[in-house]
Amino acid sequence: MAKTAVCPGSFDPVTQGHMDIIRRASSLFDNVIVVVMTNTAKQAMFTKEERVEFLKRATAGLGNVKVEYYDGLLADYTKLKGASVIVKGLRALSDFEYEFQMALTNRKINPKVETVFLTTTAEYMYLSSSLVKQVARLGGDVSDFVPECIIDDITKKVKHTNADKAASGKM
Ligand code: PNS
Repeated sequence: MAKTAVCPGSFDPVTQGHMDIIRRASSLFDNVIVVVMTNTAKQAMFTKEERVEFLKRATAGLGNVKVEYYDGLLADYTKLKGASVIVKGLRALSDFEYEFQMALTNRKINPKVETVFLTTTAEYMYLSSSLVKQVARLGGDVSDFVPECIIDDITKKVKHTNADKAASGKM
């Protein structure tokens, strides 16, 4: 039976670190669904449509990967899709407690789902979407951090946001 894995995240925006995990998941499982979700602890910079579009572009070359959005519980989504595995990337020990808590909660809600952790490639250990946004907001070059196909969109968004802030006197 084909194994479907789900790669969840807020992907605000997708980074090279996320892409590394998605690529490796796509070589381990028959089908991979990258699902853009809401992290209630974070305020997103990009809309859900933008985040999905960025991921669709970045994963276009991976035949067994599709991208969706789901506004609900991850464990319910895995049931809905008949997915037996959740794939997450672990960067450092600091990720562990939070990820462990989420994995246990998800298994409590859907006992048929296992969370599998892939250790991030050393090159991307420091990388996060928050860091990308910070560098972009301050005019830095994000080309080493995100897929090439989304760099222009990030630059445009930051210019827009900065212009809006300037117009409202918040800068
Ligand atoms: O990339 P992130 O922000 O670390 O991803 C966290 C995410 C979106 C996977 C997590 O917040 C999540 O699963 N949100 C969906 C709602 C949910 O199921 N919450 C309970 C998880 S224990």
